[in-house]
Amino acid sequence: MTTLRPAAVLVLAAGEGTRMRSRRPKVLHTIGGRSLVEHAVAAARGTHPDHLVVVVRHHRDLVAEHVAQLDPDVLVADQDEVPGTGRAVECALASLPSDLDGTVLVTYGDVPLLTSETLLGLLHTHAATSAAVTLVTARLADPTGYGRVLRGPDGDVSAIVEHQDATAEQLGVGEVNSGLYAFDLAVLRKTLAAVGTHNAQGEKYLTDVVAIAHERDLRVRAHPVDDVWQTEGVNDRIQLARLGAELNRRTLERIMRDGATVVDPATTWIDATVTVGTDTVIRPHTQIHGASTIGADCVIGPDTTLEDVEVGDGATVVRTQALLAVIGPRANVGPFSYLRPGTELGPQGKIGGFVETKNAQIAAGAKVPHLTYAGDVTIGEKANIGAGTVFANYDGVAKHHSSVGARTFIGSNSVIVAPVDIAGNAYVAAGSAITHNVKDGELAIGRERQRNIEGWVERRGEKDHGPTDPTT
Ligand code: UD1
Ligand code: CA
Repeated sequence: MTTLRPAAVLVLAAGEGTRMRSRRPKVLHTIGGRSLVEHAVAAARGTHPDHLVVVVRHHRDLVAEHVAQLDPDVLVADQDEVPGTGRAVECALASLPSDLDGTVLVTYGDVPLLTSETLLGLLHTHAATSAAVTLVTARLADPTGYGRVLRGPDGDVSAIVEHQDATAEQLGVGEVNSGLYAFDLAVLRKTLAAVGTHNAQGEKYLTDVVAIAHERDLRVRAHPVDDVWQTEGVNDRIQLARLGAELNRRTLERIMRDGATVVDPATTWIDATVTVGTDTVIRPHTQIHGASTIGADCVIGPDTTLEDVEVGDGATVVRTQALLAVIGPRANVGPFSYLRPGTELGPQGKIGGFVETKNAQIAAGAKVPHLTYAGDVTIGEKANIGAGTVFANYDGVAKHHSSVGARTFIGSNSVIVAPVDIAGNAYVAAGSAITHNVKDGELAIGRERQRNIEGWVERRGEKDHGPTDPTT
């Protein structure tokens, strides 16, 4: 069987989206780490069309710019002031070569769970039945608001009637138009030209193409789908949350089928963009976002949020917040760690409790175990940063960088005042304030030497050694 490819996919995204009550365009709202229109473009792209068009109008520049960033090969078509899905398609067609023929798919920018596989199934039905028009239909418990699918005695589709234009009898039809179609391009051009705006909404309906094609003895077929989530659009924020939760459920199932354990799917949120390796365990209350990749045999969570984080095989990350960071293989992070952008922890490295890092390259086997701020610092292999160390990178005007060499030991509660370079195989005494470079093999002590003053208490005139009673 030859692989079917559409000549074009048209993604309609010119609608106003008023029910979102948002200053942002509806299709730029996100679920599962991608904007609604990004989901639509990804599904469309998966069918390998010769042309991919997104139709825009409301918030035109924002949507066009976003789409161009996602996929520079997308054609952006502007819809004019004539409203309706039919007009949107006409405007999209105007951006395609006039001699183009073949099959055109139409989808919506606000139907985020639709997959490429479903579009390919539609394409297959369309080709196999030699139909001029094939539309995806669904049976919904509550069809309110949808166009109803009217079928003739032969089972062919004869018309779609919009909810607002339907008779009481037509409203009783349970099969609805999902708004996803395959068209023969030449038929689409000709029939659209015959569509008017005489309907309850005064719009140019794409759905009118169906009755016109039927009247011209062209074959119109339905492609029913059972997975109605794939046809559901986002009109308000309640649907946004519903579809977001369902997408998450599907992503977690994919991850589990691929061999990772998700201990508590109800409290785990993983973006569709994330990959998780085999035998990794995701513990409860964990969120993994963006372009994160998690290796095999890791333990992530509980209570961990990772965004754009790369985690190597066998790493453990517990009660951690991390953004734009790399955690090496078999490294250990947490609990209560905060990894900010530019953190790179090497293999078997450690970032422990109440440690904050930023632009910190921590080499293999190095340890920053407790209560430390490590900002703008390079730490060498197997170095040990004592509890309470602060890399003071900011002098009130500018940020400066420090370095600590391999196998160097920084004593507890030291402050390293950047810029300072501490070589390898060196020691810093506990409680030091280090403001000058330290060479290989040196011990740096940057603090007042301890003095013990004999007889001090007696001279102060205290009668006994106990502290004074705080209640008097
Ligand atoms: C449409 C169908 C209806 C179907 C339903 C499925 C028509 C006339 N009706 O109705 O049969 O059951 O979808 O969800 O097609 N859009 C534009 N330009 C416009 C109007 C809409 O690009 O002028 C886009 C919207 O951004 C949206 C999509 O088309 O992505 C659907 O628009 P919407 O207004 O939601 O269509 P419905 O009235 O729900
Ligand atoms: Ca809609």
